[in-house]
Amino acid sequence: MHKNNNMITILGIESSCDDTSAAVIRDSLLLSNVMAGQDVHTRYGGVIPELASRAHQQNIVPVVDKALDQAAISPGEIDAIAYTRGPGLLGSLLVGVSFAKGLAISLGKPLVDVNHLHGHLLSHFIKDPSTISDSPSFPFLTLLVSGGHTQIVRMESHLKFSIIGQTIDDAVGEAFDKCAKLLGLGYPGGPVIDRLAKEGDNKAFVFAKPRVKNLDYSFSGVKTSLLYFLRDRMKEDPAFMEKNINDICASFQATLIDILMEKLIIAARTTGINELALAGGVSANSALRERIVYEGNRRGWKCYLPQLRFTTDNAAMIAITGYYKFKEGHLSSLDAVPLSRVLDNF
Ligand code: KG4
Ligand code: ZN
Repeated sequence: MHKNNNMITILGIESSCDDTSAAVIRDSLLLSNVMAGQDVHTRYGGVIPELASRAHQQNIVPVVDKALDQAAISPGEIDAIAYTRGPGLLGSLLVGVSFAKGLAISLGKPLVDVNHLHGHLLSHFIKDPSTISDSPSFPFLTLLVSGGHTQIVRMESHLKFSIIGQTIDDAVGEAFDKCAKLLGLGYPGGPVIDRLAKEGDNKAFVFAKPRVKNLDYSFSGVKTSLLYFLRDRMKEDPAFMEKNINDICASFQATLIDILMEKLIIAARTTGINELALAGGVSANSALRERIVYEGNRRGWKCYLPQLRFTTDNAAMIAITGYYKFKEGHLSSLDAVPLSRVLDNF
């Protein structure tokens, strides 16, 4: 089929952890976003890298096919292929990177490499025909909260941003997941805790909050605090956890949210920025979403909450980032290798 005037069509591919996803974006409009999750990890209580790579290998061709199909475009109409280069599990990334390279060679199209975190940050710029939503205006602050990262990011433009605060140990998503594991709630823990917390009293128990300098975070102590709390209470009553599960979830979740908000409020005050956004898997959390809106209303912030389907890992965010990079001529060469950790300049 012939090329569509001046529009830019990007195929995005995401395979950094345990979701295989492909999406098509034309200019910034989303045409498709297909996901294949991997149930295989649930029974192990966490992602098993080797199993994740194998599942990506099985999923990648049908997922990309479906994304092109749903977007009603032929491979020839793609202007560039954007893929997640890192951070993530190396074996998982390799599947997406290798597939993207193979497809790029066979179609004679350029490649754009995308930093997965950059993808989360730009998820607010995906234009979804099914919903009307505003995008933030620059500069704005994003609280990026996921299974691997917790950062306050100052966004200067689509391609320029700086991390002004971040965790010095665990990510907040990890705290949710580890807490859920202690409570025997399965993996991933965040959504389960979110659900049970709705039925509980968030002031029932108190957990220790960390003292960390500047705009940085720490979440390893609060997890240890929960561990000792459970050990002590269960010595007195072995059924304590079962009886109080909703209150424990609500109180623990509230502690994590308090920790997040305390630094975000300082960041907004010290930068003088009053446009604030949430991004990353933990931004699906209903109490966190309510809380940022509540704090925002009191402080005159304009808050941006990502659509739920763009909170956890998805290829639409990779495609939109690829779109902005492609427009500025940031292409990737065929010898680019996946990066399990992100470098500063990428
Ligand atoms: O962004 P993401 O899909 O993957 C990474 O890049 O890490 O985030 C996954 C994390 C997991 O820790 C998961 O427990 C958490 O997001 N999560 C939630 C919720 N939904 C997903 N945490 C709290 N509440 C939720 N509703
Ligand atoms: Zn992610």
